[in-house]
This record gives sequence, C-alpha cells and structure tokens, in this order.
Amino acid sequence: MTKPSIPLSELQAEVQACHRCPLADGRTQTVFGVGNPDARVLIVGEAPGKNEDLQGEPFVGAAGKYLDQLLAVAGLTREDVYIANVLKCRPPGNRDPRPEEIEECTPYLREQTRTISPEVIVTLGNFATKFILKTEVGITRLHGVAKQAGRFKVFPVYHPAAALYDPKKREALEEDFAHLGALLGTVPRAE
Ligand code: URA
Repeated sequence: MTKPSIPLSELQAEVQACHRCPLADGRTQTVFGVGNPDARVLIVGEAPGKNEDLQGEPFVGAAGKYLDQLLAVAGLTREDVYIANVLKCRPPGNRDPRPEEIEECTPYLREQTRTISPEVIVTLGNFATKFILKTEVGITRLHGVAKQAGRFKVFPVYHPAAALYDPKKREALEEDFAHLGALLGTVPRAE
C-alpha cells in the first residue's frame, strides 16, 4: 500500500519548527515554498538568499524576477507552478549548501514532492539537479533534456542566478524554458 501524502500545511508547520541543523540559528524565518498545490510543474531551487530569508518566499530577488520571465517563455505564471528549494533556511553569506544540511533538510522536499505530485520537476542548477537525479554529472551536460525519474519527468536547467550576468547561460535557459513549454503543451512547438 502506498503511504498517504502529508498535507502541505502540516509539512510547513514542521519546517517552521525545524532545528535539525545549525542553519536554524541564523535564519529570520524558514522558506517553505509557494504556489499551486495542484501544479503540473514543481520548480526546485537551491536555498533561500537574503531577500527570501526576510520575506519568507522563494525567488523574490533579482533571480526571481528573471525566473518569472523564464516561466513566461514556457507559457507559465507563478500561479501555475509550485516553487521550493533544496534547503529551507538561508546558508550564511549565501554559501553553498553542505552535504549534512542537504541530508537533514531534503526529507521535507521529498514529502512536498509526494504531496504535490507534479508531472515535471524543473531543477535549477547543480544542487537541485544532483539531489533529484542522484547524479554527479554537472548541469552543463544535463540541462535542457528531460529524464524520467520514477513517476516524474525531471528537467534540469541552469540556475537563473548563474545566468544573470552570463549571456550564454541566459540564451540556454531561454531555449530550455521554450522546450519546457513545448513539452507541457503550454506554448506551441517550434516548427
Ligand atoms: N536562489 C535559490 O536557489 N532559491 C531562492 O529561493 C532564491 C535564490
């Protein structure tokens, strides 16, 4: 028998009370995730930054504005998707997530994924892609190609923050989001 999924409100309360790792000591608040609980698409980022820690929502800074533009390329809005991160608390100085933090925090992401049950998981950058696909292969090789992982299609793309000042990555991201739209049928397929 399959395990019943945990309601998002219950998971969020667990995350808010979480002290499984020392990131809890430095946070203003946890950043659980936002969006449509019935979304076809789950977007997974890395970890909250300064603005997200202050506002309690993922992708509210410059990378978030760019993410909104990328979603539009795929014919999507924030209301269509659910957005969450690998880590629910901000690492100090926006340093990379540590393996032990990922290990402690990702049971929450796993449960969020089970509850939302999306068709497609879009992984932004190396940390989300490595965790979801259980791979050591880097994003440069994986981006833009959908892979089946259990019940989900996983679609890795560059992290929008890494592309902000890198025109080549921006071009790749925009092409990949157009491809995502075609995959979902939310934008017409290019001839
Ligand atoms: N970068 C991320 O990976 N997640 C956020 O929520 C913000 C920036």
